[in-house]
Amino acid sequence: MSIVIQNLKEAINGESNAKRKYELYAEKAKEENLPEVADLFEAISSAEAIHIKNHIRALKVLTNKDVKIEQFVEVNEHDLKQNLKDTKANLIDAINGETYETKKMYKNFVKSSKKEGSEVAELSFSLARKAEKVHAKLFSIYLKLLENNKPIEKRKIFVCQICGNVEFEAPPSVCPICEHSQKFFKQY
Ligand SMILES: [Fe+2]
Ligand SMILES: [Fe+2]
Repeated sequence: MSIVIQNLKEAINGESNAKRKYELYAEKAKEENLPEVADLFEAISSAEAIHIKNHIRALKVLTNKDVKIEQFVEVNEHDLKQNLKDTKANLIDAINGETYETKKMYKNFVKSSKKEGSEVAELSFSLARKAEKVHAKLFSIYLKLLENNKPIEKRKIFVCQICGNVEFEAPPSVCPICEHSQKFFKQY
């Protein structure tokens, strides 16, 4: 199996776990009466779903067959719930995960797809990589507010349906990551 196909499967598994984890983190934030943090976790969870969709599309193109994600995706609900901590710790975990994906995982995956000349995978990985960087930044903003006991204001959150970029307050006229127009942003 080519490295790129292996990497796509690993990315789909990682994103599936992140997506579910953020849903659980959102529930926890609601329990702690932090609805704004819950909104951010939910919005970013939906952004991970876009990465999953893009990676599956790339995998289909490369393998020329239907993708059965249950063959390589394992989301261990029990473990995810077991590892659930308070919202501050959950934010730190999320920042670590996003940073790992940006600086290590997707960085390497982009490199190997270039080497294999797989443009479809390279695009999917590099869009995800740039979006994860934004996710880490937004989680960090909220963590800082929490750590300084500052209130977190309610913000409008927009998610680019093409690349999973997330923007506060208003969608940009053009997505800075995938260059699609404003109309591809959905308010979360
Ligand atoms: Fe992310
Ligand atoms: Fe985008």
